[in-house]
Amino acid sequence: MTHTRILVTGGAGFIGSHYVRTLLGPSGPPDVSVTVLDKMTYAASSSSLDPVRGSDRFALAIADICDPVETGRLVAEHDQVVHFAAESHVDRSISDSAEFVRTNVLGTHVLVDAAHRHGIETFVHVSTDEVYGSISTGSTAETTPLSPNSPYAASKAASDLIALSYHRTHGTDVRVTRCSNNYGHHQFPEKLIPLFVTNLLDGKNVPLYGDGLNIRDWLHIDDHVRGIELVRTGGRPGEVYNIGGGTELTNRELTHLLLEACGASHDRIEYVTDRKGHDLRYSVDWSKSHAELGYTPRKNFVEGLAETVAWYRDNRDWWESLRERAALPAEENVVGAPAC
Ligand code: NAD
Ligand code: TYD
Repeated sequence: MTHTRILVTGGAGFIGSHYVRTLLGPSGPPDVSVTVLDKMTYAASSSSLDPVRGSDRFALAIADICDPVETGRLVAEHDQVVHFAAESHVDRSISDSAEFVRTNVLGTHVLVDAAHRHGIETFVHVSTDEVYGSISTGSTAETTPLSPNSPYAASKAASDLIALSYHRTHGTDVRVTRCSNNYGHHQFPEKLIPLFVTNLLDGKNVPLYGDGLNIRDWLHIDDHVRGIELVRTGGRPGEVYNIGGGTELTNRELTHLLLEACGASHDRIEYVTDRKGHDLRYSVDWSKSHAELGYTPRKNFVEGLAETVAWYRDNRDWWESLRERAALPAEENVVGAPAC
């Protein structure tokens, strides 16, 4: 049997760790081994990888994707790359975008360049629907021109274009995924759902931006990971695949569901100053992923949300220290990262 060595960048983060636990779990393919390449920024959680730490098909390399020497060495030892590593929180990109440009743009360039030089079989670049910008009606297809608004979205759009340029120029097998807003267990408590749930569990209020009428499409982490695996194993080189969740809600509607799930009253909502340049709505058309790869989101949102709330209720140990960490500046939160 052919054995595939996969380098997973950002594998200690929310989605990357779920991908790794799934690949090396009981339903994962038997013929893969995984090395996580992660800088262990404030957003990483070492314990999210505990379930796979004992596997002889798992290794962890603490490194920065912007470091060409270490990244090149690791890429050379692998057959495929699945690239999650990024600065991922829009609000942080508004207060300071330098690290977003460094990791998301420069880091992706270092990685895809190494992939090209070492003849990597397949490079899956995990991106976001935010690169298409805000749309008030309809859904964005893979062919929709990019129109990112936040520094986060702009840095992801730049990274998509750099990655795809290596396919067009050098023939590197690059595949890009663009998903909607993920939710589920092990998500760092700064994004809406885990922030609001942990606030409510701690008896605090929840800060709803502006009028709360911005719309997001919610994608369960299991569906996203399945979509990425379909792209890695069955996607076509040089192609982009949208991965949607199928549940569009205003932030206000979502907050009411969260209040209900946590048994909290409506007076816990605190309407606060809106996010600068706040995108009104994202919605991806995932019919290409469905037609080519058989992708369909399966998780019922109400069930998925109830399971997520229950997980945070039962796993305080996981998130309490992360909440303290979230308050610190990024440079105080990095473990063992070489300079770029
Ligand atoms: P996350 O913030 O939870 O994790 C990011 C991981 O990348 C962390 O483990 C961090 O330590 C690592 N990292 C950051 N900078 C690094 C560097 N320079 N070198 C090596 N590792 C580095 O992010 P997430 O929510 O899991 O998102 C993963 C990917 O999915 C990102 O590329 C993000 O843009 C994309 N995405 C996320 C969502 C979402 O809803 N969370 C939606 C669309 C797309
Ligand atoms: P977020 O989880 O940060 O994801 P993204 O900005 O990438 O979509 O935010 C989801 C939505 O929730 C977005 O419209 C902003 C809003 N929001 C709040 O209203 N309050 C908050 O404290 C946060 C973090 C987000």
